[in-house]
Amino acid sequence: MVIFSVIITNLDHILQNKRLYKMNKKTKICAIVAVGPENVIGKNNVMPWYCPADLKYFKITTTPYPCIFGKNTFTGMNNQPLKNRINIICSSKHNDEMIDLNYWHASSIESAIANFKHYDKIFICGGAQIYKYVLSQDLIDIFYLTKIESPKLQKQIIQNPEQYTYFPVDINTFFTPNKWAAKQITVQTETLPKNPPHISQTFWQYTRKRQLG
Ligand SMILES: NC(=O)c1ccc[n+]([C@@H]2O[C@H](COP(=O)([O-])OP(=O)(O)OC[C@H]3O[C@@H](n4cnc5c(N)ncnc54)[C@H](OP(=O)(O)O)[C@@H]3O)[C@@H](O)[C@H]2O)c1
Repeated sequence: MVIFSVIITNLDHILQNKRLYKMNKKTKICAIVAVGPENVIGKNNVMPWYCPADLKYFKITTTPYPCIFGKNTFTGMNNQPLKNRINIICSSKHNDEMIDLNYWHASSIESAIANFKHYDKIFICGGAQIYKYVLSQDLIDIFYLTKIESPKLQKQIIQNPEQYTYFPVDINTFFTPNKWAAKQITVQTETLPKNPPHISQTFWQYTRKRQLG
């Protein structure tokens, strides 16, 4: 019985590795972001909302792939790497090195990507400076975008715009149909006392058209 369970466990491992390591296929560089009213993505190094559905979607989408973060975003995560993913933290002050099995430092986004090219997907997880850089270099093949709507939060942002961090391009005009194929995944509304209430989330996936066909 014990031998049987060891064989099954090993088989699971082999199947998972086969799914992850598609050596002959180009690695897809994916970006994942939740964008709120007025193009906002953050405040004081964290997100200005608490959306369990979006957090769950992030976890499901990014596990078990390498995830690249900017230094400020990682600070906002209390410097705690996410489980079941390789967390790569970028800073110009870092050397390219492994700190722990699931926690790496990188001196640039290029070196972070180069070290994990054996995965079939790598996720760019923000923040604003990191998104700005990958967009300027046209690195992204697939964008996972959650649009967050909340009239109450929008009012707060308009009253104090300097308190917030913004996504570097306007999501309402950036994903043009000539360059990006859009797919709406689902719409979900959460009413939570902790939040700005009545948060509505729409999950979108945009694939760069060079990836199609
Ligand atoms: N809504 C969302 O989905 C989402 C997702 C992620 C983050 N966020 C939010 O975004 C905010 C943080 O954004 P941010 O722009 O302040 O910071 P950030 O992008 O997380 O980190 C910026 C730092 O990363 C390093 N960096 C940036 N570009 C680099 C490059 N090309 N190569 C190497 N290192 C690079 C630099 O560190 P050095 O100065 O040390 O060189 C830079 O100061 C937070 O509020 C966070 O919650 C939101």
